[in-house]
Amino acid sequence: MSMKEKLKELENRAANARKGGGAERLARQHERGKLGARERLEVLLDEGSFVELDRFVEHGCHDFGLAEERIPGDGVITGYGRIDGRSVFVFSQDFTVFGGSLSEAHAGKIVKVLDLATKNGTPVVGLNDSGGARIQEGVASLGGYADIFLRNTMASGVVPQISAILGPCAGGAVYSPAITDFVFMVDGVSHMFVTGPNVVKTVTHEDVTFEELGGAAMHASRSGIAHFRSKTEVMALQEIRSLLSYLPQNNQENPPFQSTNDRPDRGDEELLSIVPDEPQLPYDMHEVVERVVDEGEFLEVHKDFAQNIIVGFSRLGGHSIGIIANQPAVLAGVLDIDASVKAARFVRFCDAFNIPLITFEDVPGFLPGLAQEHGGIIRHGAKLLFAYCESTVPKLTVITRKAYGGAYDVMSSKHIRGDLNFAWPTAEIAVMGPKGAVEVLYRKEIALADDPEGRTSELEQEFRDRFANPYLAAARGYVDDVIDPRDTRQRLISGLEALVQKRDQNPPKKHGNIPL
Ligand code: HXC
Repeated sequence: MSMKEKLKELENRAANARKGGGAERLARQHERGKLGARERLEVLLDEGSFVELDRFVEHGCHDFGLAEERIPGDGVITGYGRIDGRSVFVFSQDFTVFGGSLSEAHAGKIVKVLDLATKNGTPVVGLNDSGGARIQEGVASLGGYADIFLRNTMASGVVPQISAILGPCAGGAVYSPAITDFVFMVDGVSHMFVTGPNVVKTVTHEDVTFEELGGAAMHASRSGIAHFRSKTEVMALQEIRSLLSYLPQNNQENPPFQSTNDRPDRGDEELLSIVPDEPQLPYDMHEVVERVVDEGEFLEVHKDFAQNIIVGFSRLGGHSIGIIANQPAVLAGVLDIDASVKAARFVRFCDAFNIPLITFEDVPGFLPGLAQEHGGIIRHGAKLLFAYCESTVPKLTVITRKAYGGAYDVMSSKHIRGDLNFAWPTAEIAVMGPKGAVEVLYRKEIALADDPEGRTSELEQEFRDRFANPYLAAARGYVDDVIDPRDTRQRLISGLEALVQKRDQNPPKKHGNIPL
């Protein structure tokens, strides 16, 4: 064959590979409101940047008639491309080819990009749309999953790993996305569960729909598996691009700097009136965050889950930051099991990837009650404490109002290596709130008083005057300064810039033993 003929053959083979499972199956995918595997990559990546690998890979299965049915690429498109000019490795499962099911060959392709990404310090984005293990391949397929799980684990903390669930993701297949750093789901499109509705019906006699069992709304608000929930696939893919803009390529780099027109010394008068004069009244901590950060931009993670704590990415003076903020507008901003776990995982992600932590604190303590104690608030609360303690990135804290009890220690206090801790004049830093304290300390005196109610409020006021302020902590250096709320942005940016060279280390160890 001449070169010309050989090129023709390559062209034909490539065209065949691009067809995937064929036009009919792609049309069925579209009818369901889903994009094709290649179309998704076009939305995700910078235009024309995708380079495909392994497009001619086929499965090696000879059982159940599969020998005659081979489709080049074998149900997953893999390769690399760019997002905002920065490299990223990708895989996109093609549901039109054997239902996107995972064969040994299909797994091998994913393993290859995971290995390349890890070795080269490049993030990975996986687009999942699959019927799970390729049934005809049996244990070879299960082995393929395990190969992926191992790579995900080895890559964890080395390169950011992002999963989008854009179709079914069932059985053991869920554990690859679960190990990765961020999971995106789409309303009506994504379904993720260990066992589907039929098995659930047989085993527990519960009647559930796909949506109830493993839809985006459920995983975003109840299980916490989904960090981001979108209305459409395109929105999810665009949000992945936005997320990556805050992250470094790997654990040995700093996050990208993005210059801003928002002046570092911009003051904000409104910050004076956000915290209500009455300490029991709620306010929305989002407003504080958005008034302080660059151009009010905040990419919230886990928006619908454990809303009593807020976490997400933003920038201050152009520097990427991770924000953890108690939310007084939900459950008074109390720390419960879900909030502790949510924030702990976020703190650990930021620490692994050199993203400074900014904590906004208004926390009345840990949530009391049987459900919380029986559910293990001790174990789960300890996760957040552990995560803050072990983190070595720059840590800045602003106490806007309450910092009570153990929660004061947990929320990036100076005692656990907080670098710069500021308090607003509205801060209340004490072992417990005035009401609880007076009940414990003065129960007998109140019982004997002529006017128990009047005496109680007198004592509460005395306690408040004495303890519910930032100055006892400031007198000990437990907060570095009490600041004018209007200057919060300026103080955080100058603090962050003073800490850019921070180097801190934990003792040598194989790994810590976070209370899981
Ligand atoms: C081989 C599969 C497949 C699979 C789907 N297909 N799942 N082929 N192995 N696991 C094929 C179908 O035969 C069909 O082929 C095409 O993909 C599309 O499937 P449909 O059933 O027509 O699509 P739909 O109605 O949308 O249903 C999607 C589905 C269903 C809900 C995912 O296909 C399904 O239940 N599949 C089996 C899911 C499953 O039990 N997987 C194993 C889970 S256990 P044609 O040629 O008709 O287009 C597991 C273990 C992992 O994954 C363990 C890791 C440790």
